Amino acid sequence: MREEIHPVLRIKSPEQLVAESGADLEGHGLKRTMGLFQLVCFGVGAIVGTGIFVGLSDTVAEAGPAVIISFILAAITCIFTAFSFAELGGAIPVSGSSYSFAYATLGERIAFLTGWCLLLEYGVSVSAVAVGWSQYVNELLDSVFGHQLPAALSAGPGDGGVINIPAVVVIMMAALLLVRGIRESAQATAAMAILKIAILIAFCAIAFTAFEDGNLVPFSPQGFAGITAGTSAAFFSYIGFDAITTAGEEVKNPRRNIPIAILICIGIVTVIYCLVAVAAIGAMGADAVGDKPAALSLIVNQVTDSTVGGGIIAFGAVVAIASVVLAVMYGQTRILMSMSRDGLIPRVFERVSPKTSTPVANTWIVALVFAVPAAFSSLDIVVNLTTIGAAATMAVVNIAVILLRRSHPELERSFRVPFYPVSPLVGMAFCVYLMYGTGWTTWVQFLVFVAVGLMVYALYGRRHSRLTDAAAVSSAPAV
Ligand code: ALA
Repeated sequence: MREEIHPVLRIKSPEQLVAESGADLEGHGLKRTMGLFQLVCFGVGAIVGTGIFVGLSDTVAEAGPAVIISFILAAITCIFTAFSFAELGGAIPVSGSSYSFAYATLGERIAFLTGWCLLLEYGVSVSAVAVGWSQYVNELLDSVFGHQLPAALSAGPGDGGVINIPAVVVIMMAALLLVRGIRESAQATAAMAILKIAILIAFCAIAFTAFEDGNLVPFSPQGFAGITAGTSAAFFSYIGFDAITTAGEEVKNPRRNIPIAILICIGIVTVIYCLVAVAAIGAMGADAVGDKPAALSLIVNQVTDSTVGGGIIAFGAVVAIASVVLAVMYGQTRILMSMSRDGLIPRVFERVSPKTSTPVANTWIVALVFAVPAAFSSLDIVVNLTTIGAAATMAVVNIAVILLRRSHPELERSFRVPFYPVSPLVGMAFCVYLMYGTGWTTWVQFLVFVAVGLMVYALYGRRHSRLTDAAAVSSAPAV
């Protein structure tokens, strides 16, 4: 009887996960269309957005010019975890990301909770990024027409408004693209990723013309504490690299392309973030940058003494941030699809439209649900919830690497984490540290959210799980 098997023993074997997802079968529900270049663009599309365009000012306010150290530390945190993602993504190339990895190692209950926390990392992140988008829409309108939308209609109550309509609009537009199919969406994402890198490089080129050495001193005004706080803030700008692993079923040669794409993405993004930070601070000084939301376009306006350059940057930011919404929402729908296939959430999430080969109902449900925090929440709240949820799921991924090596040493791995087991252990420690740094209010919200997740699992997931007892027992690791 299913009830007799403890959720910790309800583990799904990697072979079963791969077989069920159709990852090694042609002609399953999803189409295998993405190559390495598209995958890197998809990753950059998921990573670069609100964090650098809007969040840079908060990160600089904490760390000063030492923000580059914060970016590098955040990148190192992500790289350790990315190694783990890469090993797992290469070994179990399915669309569920950390959820699937937890199912293969930590059992069904933790897998469910991981999937639940991914609602913060992906779903709430969609809301956060959409709120950041709305700020640049206002900058763009200001540059082009000299007017912004009224605060009441372009910010939630926590940020001095009533309802954030642009944030809702961008979420609905992303849903519309996604239901039309991955081919169009991936191409649009590739174009956007290239555009956003071009815009950030253009920003650096303009800002460096006003560079003054003196603006970089004092280098670390708040010392190590500032750098540490800056690292937590900078982490948000890197979230999304793991979205690459959620595309497992749509990637050509996933065992090779997924790990390579993750490493290329983090490398590119770190170099660009550091250049942007140095250029911005070199031009204006850390205090001025730390003071300005939508900092990049305002800096360009000031350096060029006109609104044209800032308008172009604002336009780039509007496009860039929209592409993050698109990529992150894509990841969320694929994770829900995996959970639905496993019976842990209702079947509506796994239904793929025969016409478009995309999960249409799933996508619209995600859009409608996460439009609510986008409309009414302040940026701080959704950013912190995203950070704590992401760090929690990434901690699980680091543990999963160790457990999978022990339970399935024979499994073919296209990539193996270097310095095992130090690398995943360090990655996990960094994740816990980042969670700690989000502050107690976020912790309370997080714990309530997890408690609700446990209830949903007990009342729905456990009862509807499609993992048979025989399969669960036979794939449990030898103790
Ligand atoms: N890394 C994503 C962004 O900065 C979440 O918008």
